[in-house]
Amino acid sequence: MTASEKTLRSQRLNQITHEPHSKLDALVKAHAPFETRASFARFVVAQYLFQAELVELYNDAELTEIVPDLPARCRAEAASADLADLDTDVPPPVAGALKNPSKARALGWIFVSEGSKLGAAFLIKRAVALELSETFGARHLAEPQGGRAEGWKSFVRTLDALPFTAEEEAEVEQGALDAFNRFTVLLERAYAIEAEVA
Ligand code: HEM
Repeated sequence: MTASEKTLRSQRLNQITHEPHSKLDALVKAHAPFETRASFARFVVAQYLFQAELVELYNDAELTEIVPDLPARCRAEAASADLADLDTDVPPPVAGALKNPSKARALGWIFVSEGSKLGAAFLIKRAVALELSETFGARHLAEPQGGRAEGWKSFVRTLDALPFTAEEEAEVEQGALDAFNRFTVLLERAYAIEAEVA
């Protein structure tokens, strides 16, 4: 067995996305989403755009065979309800969304979307200061049914158990990196829209 075979796929994905995650974390914080509801609303616009681009994947039949509760994990509706709570229009789609990815690439994106629910545990606590909660304005950051840790662990267990070819390993990694890039683009876009409106 080679060294790379001993490392779990999810651990590898964690490693290769460590840097993009740190950068995104810093970028989110640079926009101070918890200073005002207006800034938080821009953050929700980014979350909504990201989730909306993933709706098809979360409802994909082939992927749901692999992850049976996949459709229930989707947060596009929660993010859309948050926008309504925050009196913010649903934004139009942004060019460059993911299109017809392979199974492995799609799972790389879903890894990132599901992983972002872990950071959401910290974010929702800060949203409370803006008088937002998992039932108003910050629904998309809510703890999933069955718990955050359990939801994540079960997804990762499934992902790690899939037999992938070397090509698919490369695809899942590329998918995860692309997802971080895309969130970054959407975050910048969401805050730029605010500047245009102001
Ligand atoms: C679009 C994707 C993501 C976004 C926007 C995002 C955003 C964030 C932010 C802003 C924090 C800081 C929270 C705070 O300190 O108040 C955070 C923390 C965290 N995130 Fe993410 N994240 C994403 C994806 C992921 C992924 C893929 C994973 C796991 C594989 C992950 C795991 C964590 C964990 C464990 C924390 C807690 C603190 C830490 O260890 O740094 N996140 N995330």
